[in-house]
Amino acid sequence: MQDKDLERLPEHFGMVSRRDFLKVCAVVTASLGLPMAAAVKIAEAVASPQRPPVIWLSGQECTGCTETLLRATHPTVESLILNLISLDYHETLSAAAGYQVEEAKRKSIEANRGKFILVVEGAIPTKDGGVYCMIGGKPMLDLVRETAPLAAAIIGIGSCASWGGIPSAAPNPTGAVGAQEALGDKFKVINIPGCPPNPYNFLSTVLYLLTFKKVPDLDAQGRPRFAYRRLIHEGCERRAHFDAGRFALEFGDEGHRRGWCLYKLGCKGPETFNNCPALLFGDVGARSWPVGTGCPCFGCSEKGVGFTAPIVAQASLERFTPAGMPYKTGEGQRVGGGALRLTPPASYPPITPPEGHGPSAATVGLAAGLAGAALGAGAVAAMKIGRQEGKTDDKAGED
Ligand code: SF4
Ligand code: SF4
Ligand code: F3S
Repeated sequence: MQDKDLERLPEHFGMVSRRDFLKVCAVVTASLGLPMAAAVKIAEAVASPQRPPVIWLSGQECTGCTETLLRATHPTVESLILNLISLDYHETLSAAAGYQVEEAKRKSIEANRGKFILVVEGAIPTKDGGVYCMIGGKPMLDLVRETAPLAAAIIGIGSCASWGGIPSAAPNPTGAVGAQEALGDKFKVINIPGCPPNPYNFLSTVLYLLTFKKVPDLDAQGRPRFAYRRLIHEGCERRAHFDAGRFALEFGDEGHRRGWCLYKLGCKGPETFNNCPALLFGDVGARSWPVGTGCPCFGCSEKGVGFTAPIVAQASLERFTPAGMPYKTGEGQRVGGGALRLTPPASYPPITPPEGHGPSAATVGLAAGLAGAALGAGAVAAMKIGRQEGKTDDKAGED
């Protein structure tokens, strides 16, 4: 990024300094898989005084998806998001209530036909005409169906809005579905699943829409490929322990305390697509994601896994992992993938290898670090930009 590029940008974006703002742009650019030169284009789009109106509808939800956007710490993602968009209607955040806020929504939709972004948070009950979630006297189902045709783009934030999430768990008494299913094939919903999803994935999607005026490349489940193209298992810092057959067998056992693989505790990383190991959560440094803290991934962002598969069930290892060769998926052939199945070795070293045998902790840590660097290079490199200043204590790979 050249000095003349920086001079074109304002010194502050609301409460966010230009310096912090550019760091966020670098993270977003890397996670979108774009060259760093695109960061300037993104920055300029954000600096534009025209903020897209957003109508945020909340259905069957816990507000965790909103919270994840507001509780980020450094840099201030929430300030950026709130400066980036004009949040014209949000039931939790609006100061007004009742008739006033419903009227404000009606006016905003009317004035911004075809220009606003519709964000759906939460599942949508369809049973009995949708009476199990009423807002302002109307079923959420009707609200989504009457608002979607007037929107420029539709985002389903969180697993509830993407495919039903918790409210749709068996026996699904309210007939809860995601926004795409409620709206049907005439609409294309950009799904950002996760419970809650990473705020950077929402921010990146909005920035992509603003900068390039089109929907990002989506997979068969409507998820942006830039965020959901890889399995958790591919970028996991514990992957080298999986490959070496070193598993935690109980919470708190020696393997768990030493940071070994959580597969046998029910980790669903091998069948869940998301970029958690690369982006992390809360901007607080290394290991700030479920598996990093010792908790198996339960597949919160994967339809048919999260809230469906038993927590303790062992994940399927039948997915492909990229290794530089073409491979086939349900959507056809993909280039850049590999035909390697995630099959663990036929035999494992003992869970407690005798002193002086087996790979050393340092070797495993280094291998894990290299694998992670190769798989999530862009995003990880960008996150490091932010860490250099804060001197975050990063001891990833230590045992
Ligand atoms: Fe809450 Fe999770 Fe649903 Fe978001 S996806 S509203 S965090 S239950
Ligand atoms: Fe990481 Fe889970 Fe895969 Fe083990 S099974 S390497 S803990 S994602
Ligand atoms: Fe969810 Fe697994 Fe990431 S539980 S937050 S997809 S590590």
